This record gives sequence, structure tokens and C-alpha cells, in this order.
Amino acid sequence: MFTIIVAENYEEVCREAYRLVRETLRRENPVLGLAAGSTPLGLYEMMKEDYSLGNTSYRKVRTWNPDEYLGLSDSDEKSARAFMNRHLFDHIDIFRENTHFPKGDAEDPEKECMDYEKALQETTIDLQILGIGRDGHIGFNEPGTPFDSLTHITELTGETRNDIARFFDGNPALVPDRAITMGLASLMRARRIVIIATGSAKADAVYAMIKGPQKESCPASILQDHSHVTVITDPAAAARI
Ligand code: F6R
Repeated sequence: MFTIIVAENYEEVCREAYRLVRETLRRENPVLGLAAGSTPLGLYEMMKEDYSLGNTSYRKVRTWNPDEYLGLSDSDEKSARAFMNRHLFDHIDIFRENTHFPKGDAEDPEKECMDYEKALQETTIDLQILGIGRDGHIGFNEPGTPFDSLTHITELTGETRNDIARFFDGNPALVPDRAITMGLASLMRARRIVIIATGSAKADAVYAMIKGPQKESCPASILQDHSHVTVITDPAAAARI
């Protein structure tokens, strides 16, 4: 079931998302699912700002990110973990040991997938924030990923690597070709999911997620089966719905 919020502009999209994050922060031991990528950056700014005003604390918060690039260590500045440190964790009072990512440089990546999934199954994410790729990917579940997938190693498509290249000095060849990602079934366990999408490049994916047939060619269409999904978009991303 989708609740759809079409906000006036990017700032309002982030404000709506932050409203839901604030609500979650009021829980006793909040568990947030966070995502890398450009879309949540305005939300993370609001989280930082409100924290700096003394309105929130993250000392009891635990976070889980859906993915990490295969081969990149925590300290690699291009890793998802380093991205989250830079844009959020370095600026709030969260305990670093409460922030979780798959280990991109694990010696045995298959085992790392199993370990991450097992740890995930021992917790429940209260609110999972996600962006959406132009091809409908969520996390790094690319088209064709089985709906019953758990944490696994995924091959990033050429389109996704081109889109991500801006985080890799503009060079798609520098983007790792694989990542460890929570699977679609793993993501579906979150109590509530918030998809944020802005810009006309996302309009087809937003349409396919909400109105398209539920097919593995659009990974986000699995969300049609989730009981509590809020989609927050600007008018451009909502153009087809
Ligand atoms: C997962 C992840 C991706 C992005 C998606 C949209 O952690 O980063 O699923 O959410 O590629 O990216 P942006 O927000 O950059 O358009």
C-alpha cells in the first residue's frame, strides 16, 4: 500500500522525509535504514541541523545501510560507509558501532552476505529510507533480482555505474562492478519504507514501482506488496502517476 506525497520541490521532499524520521526517533530504541546516493543528502542536512540545534539525539539509534561496494574497505573514501560518515555520522552523536554496513573488503564475501543477513534478521528496521534508480533498483537490487532474494552479491548495470560515476571522479570505469546488497526480501521486512525520488529522470521508475505490473524487471514493484510504503516525490518525478 502506497501513500504518495508530491511535495513542491526538493527541500519539501526532504522536509516530509525528515518528519517521518523525527517520528521514528521518538521510539524507544529506533532503528533506521539509511541509503547512500544524492537524493537523501538534503534529508541528512536536516538531520544534522536539527541535531546541532539540540532537538535530537542519536545515542540510542542504530542504523543499517543496504549496501557496500565490493572490494572497498571502510576507510576508502568512496565506500558507502565513508559517504555516510561524511554526510551524517561525523556530525551527530551516533555511536559508530551502532552503524551497520556490509563489509566490502571481507575476505569471504559470500560469508559476509550470510552474516549481514543473519544480523539483519535479528533486528527490525523501523523506517527504511531508500532512493530509487532509473531502472527501478532499490538498494543495489538491479532488474531481474528475485523477489525472494536475501543479502547477496550483485552486479551493477552499466546504467547504474554511469549514474554513480559522479561519486567516482566522473569515471564509470572507477565504479566497482559489484556490490553487496540487502536483498528485496530483506528490505521488505522493514516496518515502514520511505522512497524519495526527485527529477524527471525518475518518473518512469516511480510509475513502474506504483502502477506497473509487479515484475522482477522493476525491483521496486515488489513494494506493491508492502503494507506501509510512503513515496515522497517532487512534481517532476510524479509526472506519470
Ligand atoms: C543504495 C543506493 C541506490 C540509490 C539509487 C538512487 O544505497 O545508493 O539505490 O538510492 O541509485 O540514487 P540517487 O539518489 O543518487 O539518485
